[in-house]
Amino acid sequence: MSTERTLILGVESSCDETACAVVADGREVLSNAVATQIDLHRRFGGVVPEVASRAHIEAIGPVLDEALATAGVPVERIDAVAVTSQPGLVGSLLVGLMAAKTLAWLWSKPLIAVNHVHAHVYSPAVDGEPIDYPAVGLVISGGHTALYGARSPIDVTLLGQTIDDAAGEAFDKVASILQLGYPGGPVIDRAARSGDSKAVRLPRTLLAADSLDFSFSGLKTAVLYHVNGVPNARLTPEAIAAKGPGYGKGAEGLGEREIADIAASFQGVVADVLATKVRRAVKRVRPRSIIVGGGVAANSAIRARLTDEAVKLGLTLRLPPMTYCTDNAAMIAAVAYHHLQAGHTAGLDLEATPTMRP
Ligand code: KG4
Ligand code: ZN
Repeated sequence: MSTERTLILGVESSCDETACAVVADGREVLSNAVATQIDLHRRFGGVVPEVASRAHIEAIGPVLDEALATAGVPVERIDAVAVTSQPGLVGSLLVGLMAAKTLAWLWSKPLIAVNHVHAHVYSPAVDGEPIDYPAVGLVISGGHTALYGARSPIDVTLLGQTIDDAAGEAFDKVASILQLGYPGGPVIDRAARSGDSKAVRLPRTLLAADSLDFSFSGLKTAVLYHVNGVPNARLTPEAIAAKGPGYGKGAEGLGEREIADIAASFQGVVADVLATKVRRAVKRVRPRSIIVGGGVAANSAIRARLTDEAVKLGLTLRLPPMTYCTDNAAMIAAVAYHHLQAGHTAGLDLEATPTMRP
C-alpha cells in the first residue's frame, strides 16, 4: 500500500476572495494563496457582484500559480481538484468552477464539489487538531449566519440560519450608519473597546423559544433610529435622555464616546444572540465540541462571549486562527479529502448553486 500523502488542490471564489491552496491528507497546509478584493469594494460599502466576478477572472491565474509554486509539488502529485460550488455569488462561483474543471480535465484528476459553509465548519481542523464529533458549528460571516449539527466533516446538517441579514452584514451596515467605513466589523470592534455595552438598549431578536434561526435587521434598524431619531416621534427631553448616549444626533453629531457606546451596545447584543442560539443548538444536538468560523469570528466580544458560554456548557470551543476564519481555499481542499475518501466526486457538468441548501 502506498504511504504517499493525498494532495488536494482547493479553489475558492464564492464571494470576494480568490483563493487556491494545496492541502495534504485533509489537514496539513502546503500552500494557502488568497487575493482579497476588499479595496475594490470599499467605495461601494459592500461587495458588488459584477465587480467581484471580473476581479476573480484577473486573479485566478496568478493565485493558482502562487499556490502550486509555494506547495513545491509537481502537478502530477496532485490527487484531486476541489472547488466551492455553493453557496455564493453565481458569477464569482463560475470563475472558480471553470478553473477547477479545466485543471481536473487537463490533469485527468477527480473533481470534488465542496459546500463553502460546510468547509467553514471544518476549518478548525485545518493545520489544527481533529474535531471531536458530534459538533455544533456556527458560521458567521459577511454572507452567512448559520448553525449546523456535524457528525463528521461531510455529514453536516443545517439547523438554522438568518432570515434576513447575515451577522457580518449587520456589522457592515451599522458601521455605515455610524459613518465608520468598510468593512464594518473591525472598525466597530475597535470603536467598541472603550464603550459601555449597557449604554443603549437595543432589541435582542431571538424568534420563537426553540428557534435556531437568526434575525439581525431589527437590530440594525434600531441602531439607525437611535442615531437619527425615531421618524415622526415627538419625545420629551426626559424620554430622549432615557434612550441613551447620542440619541437623534445623526452620525455627524456623535462624539467619540457616544460612538463607542453605540458600537459596544450593538456588538454586545449580537454576541448575546449568538451565544443564546449556540446554547439552544447544544441542547438539541448534545455535541462534544462547538466550532465557530467566518470573518465575524474575529470579533473580540463575540469570541469572549462564546468562550464563556462553552466553559459554562463544559464543551471544547474550536475557534480557528483568522487565516482560516476568513474565506480561504485550504478549508475547501481539507474537507474535500473526506469527500474523496467517501467516493464523492463530481462530473465536469458540475453547476454553481448560489443559494444555501440544507
Ligand atoms: O468570512 P468573511 O471574510 O467573508 C464572507 O464570507 O463574507 O467575513 C467578512 C465579514 C465582514 O462583514 C466583516 O465586517 C466581518 O466579517 N468582520 C468582523 C470583524 N472582522 C471582520 N465582524 C465583527 N468583528 C470583527 N472584528
Ligand atoms: Zn465564507
